[in-house]
Amino acid sequence: MSDKKIPLTGFSSLAIHAGHTDNSNYAHLTPIYASSTYVFDEAEQGMRRFSGEEKGYIYGRWGSPSTAEAEEKIAALESFAVMDEAGNALKLKAILHASGMAALSTLLISNLKSGDKILTHFSLYGGSQELVEKVLPPLGIEAIIVDLRDLNKAADIMKADDKIKMLYLETPANPTLQCVDIEALTILAKQYNLTVACDNTFATPYLQQPFKYGVDYVFHSTTKFLNGHGTAIGGVLLGKDLQKMNGHITKVHRLLGGNSNPFDAFLLTIGMKTLEVRMERHCHNAMEIAAFLEQHPAISKVNYLGLHSHPDYYTAAKQMRHPGAMLSFEMKGGLEAAKKFIDKLQMCIRAVSLGTCDTLLCHPASMTHFSVPKEKRELYGITDGLIRMSVGIENVQDILTDLEQALR
Ligand SMILES: Cc1ncc(COP(=O)(O)O)c(C=O)c1O
Repeated sequence: MSDKKIPLTGFSSLAIHAGHTDNSNYAHLTPIYASSTYVFDEAEQGMRRFSGEEKGYIYGRWGSPSTAEAEEKIAALESFAVMDEAGNALKLKAILHASGMAALSTLLISNLKSGDKILTHFSLYGGSQELVEKVLPPLGIEAIIVDLRDLNKAADIMKADDKIKMLYLETPANPTLQCVDIEALTILAKQYNLTVACDNTFATPYLQQPFKYGVDYVFHSTTKFLNGHGTAIGGVLLGKDLQKMNGHITKVHRLLGGNSNPFDAFLLTIGMKTLEVRMERHCHNAMEIAAFLEQHPAISKVNYLGLHSHPDYYTAAKQMRHPGAMLSFEMKGGLEAAKKFIDKLQMCIRAVSLGTCDTLLCHPASMTHFSVPKEKRELYGITDGLIRMSVGIENVQDILTDLEQALR
């Protein structure tokens, strides 16, 4: 077999080839390694693998060729054309998880301890919000949730409280599409020695690379655009401190047991190959749909980062290649109009989740953010008439026709 030796310079080439290793049976794609354990030629070899003296797979919870390929691919995409502080190509370690929430749990538990505080933005995915507000406090870790778009306020809070150890960002945020300035906040956080982590699920590395701005960790729900077809739940945690990632964080990941599996990793690997072409089409469709919704008389507000009317338009333009495929909009008729509209859809899918080829619509107040109290939801802009839309890659005219008839 010939080694692929030419340097790959394009994002799509890496998305297709990075992480792949040839296999002895000459299969084009890495097979699904449905094996819970790996064989040693002799006892000594097992010992060498455990001590780290020899590379090799040991046990399925610790990794497999299927999970390794997906991990290396996403690491290549998040670090694509990004330099480290010394001016060398950035090297990342990715750890695949069973879900985005599992990746977030590893991130939080391996970096925070009792007495620490985490500072975050007030518009987060509902599950992330519940995790930091309900699961962390009994462990002695307090969450401070504010509007991080106010940089002066963020600076005052960081300065006033040395118990804050982590700045946790999600941008764009679910479902209001609020954006925080990754670069400005990371510069601030580093003045106070905070660890900075960013949920990059909505953007994907094709649209936004938080490591460019000096963050320490990126995490994804790979369930979404990275998989792209809605075939598997998954998550990934990426970090640039390789020693810590290969040491403490790997240990915590293995012990918490939130590992992925070979089949889901295979589906993710296949999905990531088409990330660039899918994202281009997703974003193109989303822009047309946002423009249509913005002029529609039944709609009072459209949250889309490609519209000048979005308050975070400039922040998104600064740090994202395109404004993304997610949008949300408010029906003038409130909850009743929202329900009626959703029920009338014929091609677009009524479902939570996002990032699939198919267009998905949901009602955040009663679905993804059901557990967030109403007064908090409304403060975050999640009203009863708000609909969230993950714009798919169908023919845009068909999406428009479906929306048009459902809004009638
Ligand atoms: C922005 C964001 N982060 C994290 C998650 C959690 O990911 P998962 O459902 O894969 O655990 C989600 C799920 O919707 C999400 O939208």
